[in-house]
Amino acid sequence: MKVLVTGGAGFIGSSFIRYVLRNREDIEIVNFDKLTYAGNLRNLEEVSTDPRYAFVRGDIAEPDHVGAVFQQHHPEVVVNFAAETHVDRSIEDTTPFLRTNVAGTQCLLEQSRRSGITKFIQISTDEVYGSLGTQGAFREDTPLDPSSPYSASKASADIWTLSYFKTFGFPALVTRCSNNYGPFQFPEKLIPVLVTNAMEGRMLPIYGDGLNVREWIFADEHSRAVLMALDLGRAGEVYNIGSGHEKTNLEVVREVLRIMGKPESLIQFVKDRPGHDRRYAIDCSKIQREWGWQSAVGFGAGLAETIAWYQSRQDWIQGIKDASYLSYYDRMYTRRDETLSRLNR
Ligand code: NAD
Ligand code: DAU
Repeated sequence: MKVLVTGGAGFIGSSFIRYVLRNREDIEIVNFDKLTYAGNLRNLEEVSTDPRYAFVRGDIAEPDHVGAVFQQHHPEVVVNFAAETHVDRSIEDTTPFLRTNVAGTQCLLEQSRRSGITKFIQISTDEVYGSLGTQGAFREDTPLDPSSPYSASKASADIWTLSYFKTFGFPALVTRCSNNYGPFQFPEKLIPVLVTNAMEGRMLPIYGDGLNVREWIFADEHSRAVLMALDLGRAGEVYNIGSGHEKTNLEVVREVLRIMGKPESLIQFVKDRPGHDRRYAIDCSKIQREWGWQSAVGFGAGLAETIAWYQSRQDWIQGIKDASYLSYYDRMYTRRDETLSRLNR
């Protein structure tokens, strides 16, 4: 089976490609990625010479690029990981989120429908459901209530995907996963910011009171569930993916510092994210019941493995922390108060 994976040079897409090529001899993969700041072919060094793997640089929002990769490779299945993914960047500039996440998904759906694709998996997120109070968990039928431009764009893409099923009978489905962590995650998301800053003895920035809750899943577990969606997922359905490991951001930062043997004095509370969702939690009983999927990696074990990976990959970190990263970090953190007060005016 030939699978077109979009966004395969990013954090989770590359985990999926490595996972599939390690575990399945019957699958060939074409990785179609624009290589934005978040795309990194070093994430795929392990598979780059595998004859079942090919890379094509292109943009999912450009019909010509998408048409060309379909014409050259004739994929049977599409897994759409490609997206702009960072909430804080979506607050700074919403335009790329509309373009890639909404128009890009529509462009890919349209080419896929015309090409007779047998399954289209839209990789989505629990953020489309909005924010929870202290109790309860998101189910697949929880109404969509996104808070940020990022989550609004992902919710829109979900609705576009499901409309292709309802209107055209196109065999598309949606998966919605909770917060991922693990090796190869770009140091703009919480855990790699904490780990790489602690390695450099820099402050560890925590937004607001640090009591926002996220459900953390090791990325390879997400990949395992997406592979099950490829085999077992039914068209027109939504599937939640989660781990059950709910943590406040303060619990996460304290655990990172404990494992790394660093002092809690490195924690610095900084101005909160506008529209910051308070709590996410996922009810994934549907995939447990229908696919027999279970989370198998504990948060402590996954975090220790992640930290050890960053400690052993200074070369990877240095490749990322270039001038454009330093400028991003300066805008987001060093000048965070100034930026936010300007936004609020
Ligand atoms: P990432 O930011 O690490 O990678 C995104 C990839 O998409 C990059 O390789 C980038 O080059 C590529 N890309 C961006 N725009 C593109 C375009 N127009 N055309 C082609 N490629 C493009 O993201 P990630 O964290 O690996 O997330 C992957 C997917 O999983 C996203 O759809 C995201 O919404 C979803 N998701 C992420 C999480 C999480 O915790 N990170 C959780 C649930 C769902
Ligand atoms: O829930 C799934 C989503 O998880 C994905 O759809 C998104 O692509 C992914 O970015 C992630 O979104 P979050 O906003 O939850 O992740 P982030 O790592 O940005 O933040 C996690 C929590 O940590 C959140 O409450 C904000 C907080 N935070 C984040 C950063 C970057 C901090 O306190 N300090 C920080 O420096």
